[in-house]
Order: sequence, then C-alpha cells, then structure tokens
Amino acid sequence: MTANAAGFASQADDVFGRIAGRYDLLCDVFSLGIHRLWKRRVARVIANEPWSVLLDGASGTGDIVMRVISHGQMAERTVIAADISGPMLAIAERRLGPKAARVRLLRLDAEAMPEIADASVDAYSLSLVMKICDRKRALAEAIRVLRPGGRLVILEASNIRWRTLHRAYLAYMRLCMPVLGWLATGGDASAYRYLLHGIRDFPTAEAFADEIASSGFEDVALERLSFGIVAIHVARKPG
Ligand SMILES: C[S@@+](CC[C@H](N)C(=O)[O-])C[C@H]1O[C@@H](n2cnc3c(N)ncnc32)[C@H](O)[C@@H]1O
Repeated sequence: MTANAAGFASQADDVFGRIAGRYDLLCDVFSLGIHRLWKRRVARVIANEPWSVLLDGASGTGDIVMRVISHGQMAERTVIAADISGPMLAIAERRLGPKAARVRLLRLDAEAMPEIADASVDAYSLSLVMKICDRKRALAEAIRVLRPGGRLVILEASNIRWRTLHRAYLAYMRLCMPVLGWLATGGDASAYRYLLHGIRDFPTAEAFADEIASSGFEDVALERLSFGIVAIHVARKPG
C-alpha cells in the first residue's frame, strides 16, 4: 500500500485548478449529494473541539470552514484555510464573502508547510485530501504544526465493514463514475481517475487509525459515516 493512495501529484496534474469552478457540483454528482451530510458532521466535530487557532488544510472551495464558522462560537477564534491550488482558494474567498475577513487564506502544500511555525495551531483539519497526498508526510506536518494537546480531525474515504457491500460499492463507483465524471467535467478523466484509485487503495479505517498513531498521535478515535464510505478520525498530539 503506497502512502499516496491515488498516486496524485499536483505538480504533475493541476486537476483541481482545472475543475475548481465545477468542484462543488462534482461533489454532489459523485456522492449523490451525501457529501453535504459528511461535511456537516465533520464541521460540527471541528467546531466542538477546543481551539483558538484552526488550520483547515486542503480547504478547497472553503466548504468546511464556512460550515465551522456557521456554528458560531467564533469570538476569540482564528481560522486559516489553506490549499495548494490558487483557483480553489480564489473560489473559497468568493464564497466566504464578508466572512473572508475572519479567515486567513494561504496557499500551502499539506506535505510541507514551512510557512506554519512548529506548535502554532490548536486544531488541524483535513477533509478528503488524505487519499490524494502522501499520508506519511502530511501526518508528519500535522504533528509538527499542532501545539501539544492539539487536535487533528480528518474526514476521508474509508471502507464499508461488510466486504461484499464494499466490493459492490467499488464496482458501482468503477462503472458509474467514469460516465458521471465524464459528463460533469466535460471529458476531464483525471478528476474521477484519482478519486477511484484513492478510494480503492486507501487503508481501512482501523489501519488508518494505526497510521495516525504511528505518526505520534494518541487517543485516536474513529467514526464511520454512511456505513463506512467515509470516516472521521480524531486524534490528539501528546502533551
Ligand atoms: C477533494 S478536494 C477537498 C476540498 C475540501 N477539503 C472539501 O472537503 O471540500 C481536495 C483538495 O485538496 C487540495 N490538495 C491536493 N493536494 C494537496 C496538497 N498536497 N496540499 C494541499 N492541498 C492539496 C486540492 O487542491 C483540493 O482543493
């Protein structure tokens, strides 16, 4: 199993730059709208963690930070929304509108963020990016930037525990996604190819929890959503 399940390298293929304007539509198409429930849930988990400074990595079009902000409790709280793609961040800024004043937008690679000082954030969230980046490097950066006791929250593709159902889900994705993806992207195959490989080759929820623990985190907890199509992992940096 490789550390980058999808074999994606943004330097080689700027797929998110190309599809930025259609990204939110694609999420609806690929997940039949269910991603909204997952994001609502992870935003609640993030909002309820104790933090003053939140870094949301690979923030994309800002969906998660907008949802976190809408939970309120924002007095005394700072949010940094980062992404490797300039076009995705530009959409995040536009979507945030007046709320953009509460959010620092930064162009950052989750695998190496020298712009973020050691132990400088209280909570770090990553949604739907772990399958398309080098997990080992991203987790090493997570433990570096979090202060001792800081919280890591990750929403990512996972596995349905009933193997037959999981295989049926993968078969459905293999068959339907190219058709839906081709229509929604106007023939840009990258978007769904990475997604398919990423979902297929991502570790199980338990194996990913072990990877998080091996990266130095403790109190790793996981919650499966939609039978395990995705999972939320929460962990704490020791100290
Ligand atoms: C599937 S989208 C998820 C966006 C957002 N987190 C959400 O849940 O709506 C993946 C995002 O990760 C970004 N990305 C990919 N590789 C990255 C990396 N190495 N560092 C930071 N962002 C990355 C892409 O530009 C894209 O915006």
